[in-house]
Amino acid sequence: MTVPPPIVAPSILAADFARLAEEVRAVEDAADWLHVDVMDNHFVPNLTIGLPVVQSLRAVTAMPFDVHLMIEDPRRWAPGYADAGAYNVTFHAEASDDPVALAKDLRSAGAKAGLAIDRDTPIEPYLDLLPSFDTLLIMTIKAGFGGQRFIPQLLDKVRTARRHISAGHLELRIEVDGGIAADTIEQAAAAGADAFVAGTAVYGAADPAEAVRHLRALAERAAPGA
Ligand code: DX5
Ligand code: ZN
Repeated sequence: MTVPPPIVAPSILAADFARLAEEVRAVEDAADWLHVDVMDNHFVPNLTIGLPVVQSLRAVTAMPFDVHLMIEDPRRWAPGYADAGAYNVTFHAEASDDPVALAKDLRSAGAKAGLAIDRDTPIEPYLDLLPSFDTLLIMTIKAGFGGQRFIPQLLDKVRTARRHISAGHLELRIEVDGGIAADTIEQAAAAGADAFVAGTAVYGAADPAEAVRHLRALAERAAPGA
């Protein structure tokens, strides 16, 4: 089993919101995607940023935006992020009654479509939907807050998804999000993840760009078939 070269996506949730443009520039040469956590205080208890911030950031960097919507009613809001120039727009399975329809909307709006699976949601009911998606985000914490401890048991979902994707010859990134750091990324990569969100591990480091490069090197070494 081989997987594509890893993607590292720093999460600006752990950045200094008063200096967002600078914080983005600090990782733009080292990272692949910029992970943007949108929370609405309903789907999750926390409240973060929304469309105006994404629109403003779009003007200051060419980095692909990986927008992670932790919101209710994604069918109403998600296409706006595609229109704002997001590269990938991920919404939660738990928040959507017709994930395939929304994936189609996102693709027609010019974005890649991502499906996110929270901590307590099994992956099996969603496996047959994967051909409609470009990314599958498997939470390795409970969605809602940065800085939580990685839950290794959730990698079973990554293994199941990777087997399914390999067997079906699907082209889909498996992204892990939550508690990804130098001491956890290798096990996630070995399980078959090939996109890695890291908030605290990047923006909590003295040199965020160096932290990204280090995470990528660890993920490359641990990837199946490496
Ligand atoms: C939490 C967010 C994550 C968060 C990860 O619900 O989806 O993207 O920023 O933060 P760390 O890497 O600190 O766990
Ligand atoms: Zn996220």
